[in-house]
Amino acid sequence: MSKIIAISSQKGGVGKTTTAINLGVSLAIFQKKVLIVDLDPQGSIAASFHLDEFKVQYGLFQVIKDKTPLVMAITDIGLDNFEIVPSGVRDDEDEMDLFAYTLQPELLKSILKPLKEIYDFIILDCPPSLGSITQNAIVAADSILIPVQTEYYAIKALGKFLKSIRKVAREKNPALKLEGVLITMYEKRIKNSHKIYNDLKCSLKNLVFETVIPRNSKIAEAPSVGKPVALLDVSSVGSISYLKLAEELLNRN
Ligand SMILES: Nc1ncnc2c1ncn2[C@@H]1O[C@H](COP(=O)(O)OP(=O)(O)O)[C@@H](O)[C@H]1O
Ligand SMILES: [Mg+2]
Repeated sequence: MSKIIAISSQKGGVGKTTTAINLGVSLAIFQKKVLIVDLDPQGSIAASFHLDEFKVQYGLFQVIKDKTPLVMAITDIGLDNFEIVPSGVRDDEDEMDLFAYTLQPELLKSILKPLKEIYDFIILDCPPSLGSITQNAIVAADSILIPVQTEYYAIKALGKFLKSIRKVAREKNPALKLEGVLITMYEKRIKNSHKIYNDLKCSLKNLVFETVIPRNSKIAEAPSVGKPVALLDVSSVGSISYLKLAEELLNRN
């Protein structure tokens, strides 16, 4: 089984990159072969492993712009079963070029096609918008995973985002599934968060993952030491929650 999962949300700072890395590493721990592709021009995936963006020779940007073969952009970061394709965007000009090149919504799908046989999971870390790059992700993906925080505005925005995704999917990728909505940075102590969580479960039912990712200091600290949380502290609540998420996702599939 091979699956392309896009991690997407119109909002920034909701835990997309954190989930791409820590879910990806957790799936790799369960012996699945995983590739993370950084679609966000911010380039946070490479940064999370302390790869110097100016030393990264090839990333997705070079694949799209110069037709560099994708295999040359696959970067080994010394973890078993886990590789990344950095964004490769180095400056504002590259970023604008990337948006222009991705106006063709089928491009990413054709680029990723040969890799489907090699990896069990290809995880796409999307930028916080519904622009041309995310549209490419929606067309290329088998499913979409949406991280949300239990905040009033986040939940309101989720309804709109789901509608927009459905619209793009209806036209360009009718087979797209919702892998699930993932509650991230959950804090029980915060007033209303439990009620918002329950409301979300009521309206979306089993489309909400049972696993909830709590706000956890080890998760926040991990990028500063260039490691996924499982390698920083495997017994931390953060690491355990991402391992549980991987297990739940594997059981659902
Ligand atoms: N569960 C968590 N607990 C604590 N901090 C978190 C958690 N998830 C994400 N963060 C932190 O929140 C910030 C935003 O997360 P990030 O994954 O970069 O969001 P996005 O990719 O959606 O913009 C980062 O500094 C990250 O380390
Ligand atoms: Mg991000």
